[in-house]
Amino acid sequence: MEKFIIIVHGGAGRIRPEFKDRALRGVKNAAKAGYDILSKGGTALDAVEEAVKVMEDDPTFNAGTGSTLTIDGRIEMDASIMDGKTLNAGSVAMIRNIRHPVTLARIIMEKTDHVFIAGDFAEKLAETFNLERCNPITENRIKIWKEYKTMLIRGEHQYLPKTTKLIKIIPELATDTVGAVARDKDGNLAAATSTGGLTLKLPGRIGDTPLIGCGNYADNEAGAASATGIGEVAIRLVLAKTVCDFMRNGLIAQKAVEKGIELVKTRQNNLPMGIIAVDKYGNPGIAHSSESLSWAIMASDSPKVVAGLKYSP
Ligand code: GLY
Repeated sequence: MEKFIIIVHGGAGRIRPEFKDRALRGVKNAAKAGYDILSKGGTALDAVEEAVKVMEDDPTFNAGTGSTLTIDGRIEMDASIMDGKTLNAGSVAMIRNIRHPVTLARIIMEKTDHVFIAGDFAEKLAETFNLERCNPITENRIKIWKEYKTMLIRGEHQYLPKTTKLIKIIPELATDTVGAVARDKDGNLAAATSTGGLTLKLPGRIGDTPLIGCGNYADNEAGAASATGIGEVAIRLVLAKTVCDFMRNGLIAQKAVEKGIELVKTRQNNLPMGIIAVDKYGNPGIAHSSESLSWAIMASDSPKVVAGLKYSP
């Protein structure tokens, strides 16, 4: 049997002190859920979906329940999933009240002829396939939203300089994300990513998470990667595919993610980003330019969950 492994992240950014234990526990639970599937002979695709579902249910993370709010206080969740064996992928954007956006992404991949569906018909698909609904807004997200909005109005928000200007002319007007990459016993790779997006994003803004190649990518011939952080950075760098191409060209996963973060430093002002990857041999990679990145790994050659809130190889 070949090596199987799952790596998860619970988002890049600054983890508030009161959330550190919860974040660590959350990523460990997600890795264990994915590993449980892999150890029973399950597929990488099932493992990454399950790991992401666990984090979507955990209000600690900005995905599913606990998703962050747009500038006008609404939920717009994005998610994607990709199968490295077939290159099939599914993505969904701007979802409001589905408990597991990653499962809806998988339905789009498996039950439609398309890769990416946003808007009303995505909600219709969720209804057709009996996906559970929920209200993802939590008290904590409302608190954070109010704090950030006050900062923005005062002109003190570091990462939204143009929104700071826009808010003056449109008066009505933190990033983290969850993700998982895995290799199963048959050598197949998969990646899944889910997010509420950037806190205070403009309504209709879609980030990197559902854009295949930007926030999420998997190819058995190269590797699998899931990104987190400021989505616009991952879009400009096509970060997940770029990191997979580094692996395609022979780098092991750790070197590939480090090279990806080097690009963030040199070409995108070192904005807060994180990326996890697995290469086709099952080696893990984790790197971030953000202050923190919650992560966890479980692998068949050392089946004990290892996790942290920062990563240095
Ligand atoms: N990385 C998630 C987002 O920016 O939407």
